[in-house]
Formats: sequence, structure tokens, C-alpha cells
Amino acid sequence: MDVQDITTVLVFLVTFLLAYLATRRRRGVPPGPPLFPIVGNLPQLASRDVLGRLNGFRKTYGDIFALYVGSELTIFLNGYDALYKTLVKNGTLFNARPRSGFDALVVKNPGIIMAHDQLWKEQRQFIQAAIHRVCMNNSGEALENLVHREVDALVEEIGEIDGQFDIKDFINVAIANVTCTFLYGTRFNFGDSGILRAMSTLRDSTEDTMTVTTLCNCFPALGKLPFDIVGAKKIIVRYHKVVDYLRQFLPKSEEEETKGEPTVANMYLDKVVECVRDGRKNTFTHQQMEITLFDMFGAGTETSANTIRWGLLYLTQNLDVQERMFHEISGVLGNKQPSYAVRNQLPYSHAVQLEVLRCRTVAPLGVPHSVRRDAIIDGFLFPENCTVMTNLHSVNVDSNLWQDPDLFHPERFLNEALDEVIVPKHFIPFSVGPRSCLGETIARVEIFIFLVTLVQHFKILPVKEGFSPDMNGSLGLTWAPENFKIIIEKRKH
Ligand code: HEM
Repeated sequence: MDVQDITTVLVFLVTFLLAYLATRRRRGVPPGPPLFPIVGNLPQLASRDVLGRLNGFRKTYGDIFALYVGSELTIFLNGYDALYKTLVKNGTLFNARPRSGFDALVVKNPGIIMAHDQLWKEQRQFIQAAIHRVCMNNSGEALENLVHREVDALVEEIGEIDGQFDIKDFINVAIANVTCTFLYGTRFNFGDSGILRAMSTLRDSTEDTMTVTTLCNCFPALGKLPFDIVGAKKIIVRYHKVVDYLRQFLPKSEEEETKGEPTVANMYLDKVVECVRDGRKNTFTHQQMEITLFDMFGAGTETSANTIRWGLLYLTQNLDVQERMFHEISGVLGNKQPSYAVRNQLPYSHAVQLEVLRCRTVAPLGVPHSVRRDAIIDGFLFPENCTVMTNLHSVNVDSNLWQDPDLFHPERFLNEALDEVIVPKHFIPFSVGPRSCLGETIARVEIFIFLVTLVQHFKILPVKEGFSPDMNGSLGLTWAPENFKIIIEKRKH
């Protein structure tokens, strides 16, 4: 061995040792699987069944465990108690979002979902009030009217289809119409290529974003490699494509308040103008408006549309459930449109909606949280700024909370007489605490009215009797069913 060889070996050993030390489990943090040098727990996370993997870690290490994604500490909260203790009991401490280098590159303005502190508080309060005014006037009647208009258009459009077809694009446009009407005052025809492209671009991004962001945050150099080897630039380009597309629907007037219909965008622009006029320090700017509305579009379309598609998929697999729903609906409503309030008279149909949200909650890992300062929960250290993942799916499949959690069984949400819905406190598909889903009411109204109306009008059948579709779906930022086809038959009332 010459001097050069010895130097090479020494450099290798020192690099390895430094990498090992950098990925060593910090004292006091929750337990977790053994670490690999440099990559931490990434190899153990690389699986097509990430939720199953996390469930396995929970069995071994308990409800609170920690993984190192590269050298980044990520603490996973599993089960209702751990989530409640952090997100609700210590809500102010846990209401931040991680802000990593790659995210900042993709999103120059944090919008609402990734915002912090004063920015987040002001945006959230404003958007909640705007939605309340635009959608919830007259106890939610405006929202219901909007949902009725879109589901009626859907029923008419698909009513003419003969043979098997994929309902995905139809549901996507119908739900995008609800969201875009209250956000921008805009709606689209079925088959509109612009909105369908925006939604599929969004879906493609959500599928890749988790993996690419994780890799680029651990190893920033990866994002700068030539030929975009890990796909980082592709994500940025896709993101901007959707933001650019939505920009055309924003109100144009910059100097004057809008006199148009009350939409969230119009109200936002009025707020920007008012703040500029008053010279107050605030977080309302044109750039912020663009991203906050983009966030609302992103969070409000994929989620509800995918839940409705999961619901239809389950109904094709559980025709007895569908028949029971139909009899309940036709007995109470006949041909009349369902209101959201009527769910109390349709307990079984309501229970079906809840069971779909439990079995295939579309945001199984929520949105990452972060800790404002060092915290001790259950004796474990949560270091300031570490990433905290909320495994909502773990609550939904917890056999201590639900009997046979893997079964699709709507009755679990009914009382013994089967005439009233009972929602247990541990049913939290929209998360809990100050950062819980801002669109929960909208989503519940959309999903209930869409599923009830579709079952009221059609028998929804699998393409072949006994056909077993893929029920695993694909997991990105949201959990979507794989594409599937159905056959529909018009119901006679
Ligand atoms: C089935 C439908 C939906 C589900 C299951 C769902 C679930 C969630 C979850 C789990 C979070 C993360 C909460 C946390 O950080 O702890 C979230 C956040 C959010 N959701 Fe939803 N969501 C749905 C539909 C909607 C709709 C329809 C909208 C708006 C129109 C919406 C807007 C938002 C926003 C803006 C946030 C971020 C809140 C914040 O950071 O303060 N969501 N949602």
C-alpha cells in the first residue's frame, strides 16, 4: 500500500465516521429503527406500502417513534392519544410547519398551508371569514346550492353514457367547479382541457413531491444535478404551471375595490387594496393572494374528488350496502335533492360516508407539523424545529378503537337501533387542533351530497360481476384510488 492508498482509505474512514456521527440518534428523542450512515432510515422507508411500514414501526417502537430522513429528525405520532396530546393539548407549540430548503425553492410565498406565525394567523382567519360569507350565508344554503348545481350537471352528463367508463374526469371537473366558483367565480364544462390538465399536473406533483422533497432536503446537491436526475426541476415547473393557469381567474383591478360577486378572490383583493390604502403592516399582498388561493384549490379539489371516487369504488364492491343506501334514500327523499341537514334522516347513508373517510382517508399522513421550541411529550424530547408527521391513518386502523378495522362496515357508526349516527371522538380524518382542515365543512357537504345523489339516480356496478379492483391506490400527498371503470344503470323511482 503506498501513501496515496493509505490517504484514500483514511479519507474514506473519516467521511464514514462523520456521516455516522451526523446520523446518530440524538439523546432523549423517541426510539426508532437502527440508522444507516448518511441516509439514516431512508432505506427502511423505501417501500410501496409506506403506511404498512409505519404501522410495523408503531408495533415495535410504540405510538411515538422517530426516523432520521438523512440527518433530519422526523417524529411520527400514531394513535389518537399521541395526536391529541400534541396537536390539541399543546396546539400552540405544534402549530408550525417545517420550512426546508427545497420547499422554499418551489414555493417563494408560503400561501396558507405552509405559512407560520402572524402570516398564517392572518391568512387563516381571513380565509375562514371569507368562506363563511361566500359559502355559509343562510346556514350553508349557498354552498348546498352550488353543490346541487354541479352534481345535477354530473348526473345529466353521465346519464347518457352507455357501457363502462372511468368517472374520474367527470368528478374532477364537478368538484373543481364547486371550489373555483366560491374561490374565483369560475366554472368549466366537462372535458375542459385546461382544468383537467391542471388537476392531473397537481396529482402528478403530489405523487412525486414527497419522495423528491425528502431526497433534496437531505441531500441538497441532488436538486442541482445535471439533467434533472431526481426530478426536482420537474416539480418546480409543474407547480408553476398550475399557479400560472389559476392566475387568469384572479380579479384584475389593482386600484379599486371589486364590485363583483362575493368570491374569496374578490374579497381578498379588496383586503389588499384596503391594507395598501391604510398603510398598515400586514401579510395581504398580490403574491400572497395568488398562493393562498392556489393552496385552497389544491387542498379542496383532489381531496374531496378522491374521497368520492373511493366511495364509488367501495359501493361497487359492496352492492348490498348500495342497495340499503338506495332504499333509505328513496324512502326519505324520493326524487328530491338531498340537503346536508337531511343526513339525520339518512343515518345509514351518512354512516357510509364516514366509513369511506375512515377506510381511505385521503390525507393519511396529514400535513407535516413542526415544533416551535424544545418540548417533552411522554418523556420524549421533541427538539425545536424538528418535523412531526401526524399518522391519521394509524387511528383509523387501530384495532383498540375499531372492531375489525380492515372491514368496510358502515354500521360501526350507528347506534344499536341503527337509526342514529354516533361519531366517536377518535374519528379525525381532518386532523385536530388549530391547524386542522380549514375546508372540513365544505368537504363533508360535497361528499355526502355527491354520494347520495349518485346512488339516488344510478345503480353503480363493477365492470364484471365479482371483479376485484386494486384497493391499495397510490399514495402521494393524498391517497388516490387507481383509475377504475364502472357501469351505471338509471334507477327507476
Ligand atoms: C375529504 C376531504 C378532505 C380531507 C380528508 C382533508 C384533510 C386535511 C388534513 C388532514 C389537513 C392537515 C391538518 C393538519 O395540519 O393537522 C388539512 C389541511 C387543510 N385543508 Fe383539508 N381536507 C379535505 C378537504 C379540504 C377542502 C375541501 C378544503 C378547502 C376548500 C381544504 C382546505 C385545507 C387547508 C387550507 C388546509 C391547511 C390548514 C392550515 O394549514 O392551517 N381541505 N386537510
